[in-house]
Amino acid sequence: MKPVVIAPGDGIGPEVIPYAVDVLKHFHPEWEYIPVHLGYECWKRTGDALSARTLETLKKADLILFGAITTPPDPKYQSVILRIRKELDLYANLRPVFGPGFDILIIRENTEGLYSGIEWQEKDRACTLRLVTEAGTRRIARFACACAKKRRRHLTIGNKANVLKSDAYFLQICIEEAEKTGISIDKKYIDALVLDVLQHPGRYDVIVTTNIFGDILSDAAAYLEGGLGMLPSANIGRHLALFEPVHGSAPDIAGKGIANPVAAIRCVALLLKYAGERENARIVEEAIQAVLKDGIKTPDLGGDATTERVGKAVLKELASRRQDS
Ligand code: NAI
Ligand code: MG
Repeated sequence: MKPVVIAPGDGIGPEVIPYAVDVLKHFHPEWEYIPVHLGYECWKRTGDALSARTLETLKKADLILFGAITTPPDPKYQSVILRIRKELDLYANLRPVFGPGFDILIIRENTEGLYSGIEWQEKDRACTLRLVTEAGTRRIARFACACAKKRRRHLTIGNKANVLKSDAYFLQICIEEAEKTGISIDKKYIDALVLDVLQHPGRYDVIVTTNIFGDILSDAAAYLEGGLGMLPSANIGRHLALFEPVHGSAPDIAGKGIANPVAAIRCVALLLKYAGERENARIVEEAIQAVLKDGIKTPDLGGDATTERVGKAVLKELASRRQDS
């Protein structure tokens, strides 16, 4: 029995995560599901956005299903998801993007770079340190090379080595690791890469890049699939993994019951794949595709279905399919 920690979070997180949990329970009613409260609402209620006890629960989990959290632009408030990624050392952030004629895996370094959390404010300026270490880069480069080796044996390294020393360093280490693995590489400046991925997605397979560039590239790449409501992500560490939609808490639509639950449900496909259940992961993807093909879509995709309607339709699709357990 695997303990799965469920952290719905804020905004649309608690609206979409229950359907993801139901999908997971469809395959694994026997697993232990542990709900936790964290995020901005939790902070407003208890004064603590991520309590020591919740953090311990997360650390002990094998798998975490995370919704989204609101980060108010208050300098005193520290982003919970960034803290979790660092505390649990979830160093690889995987964001698959696929559709007709393209199948891209964006791999983002998840613990350092511009999101290292080393920042301070002075009287008339503010500084954020962009930290790129050899250890941090080698492990993400090795991870990306291992993924590329299992796919088309090609790695694109998104960088800005022309202006940033920290990126020249990142690039050099990635090249060394790719040479050791025997895969081919492409170096691309991140700004041009974002555009090219949108114009020619079929040219790409595995892309590795630093923290903030991966954040921006993957949100932009969501365009290829119809928007942020569609993309899941996996945050992988040495011993545990956290799955979360790429989107945030979407305060503009929270409470309306129209959030797209597909990204959250796809997180379950990633989770099952991570747990070695490729066939079940494929079944989840197929069920989602069948529902969308039937025109059952939330407004972000041009439809008029509610979160509930899409979520329930996916569950119904699953119930009508054979499962491999
Ligand atoms: P967002 O992803 O929450 O929303 C951006 C736009 O996409 C909004 O118009 C929203 O309505 C739409 N959208 C997002 N997910 C959707 C879904 N499932 N269905 C339909 N439409 C969807 O990003 P935004 O507005 O920049 O940030 C809102 C809050 O979320 C902020 O407090 C931010 O800090 C937080 N955030 C949290 C993340 C996390 O928990 N990992 C990631 C990104 C943002
Ligand atoms: Mg983002």
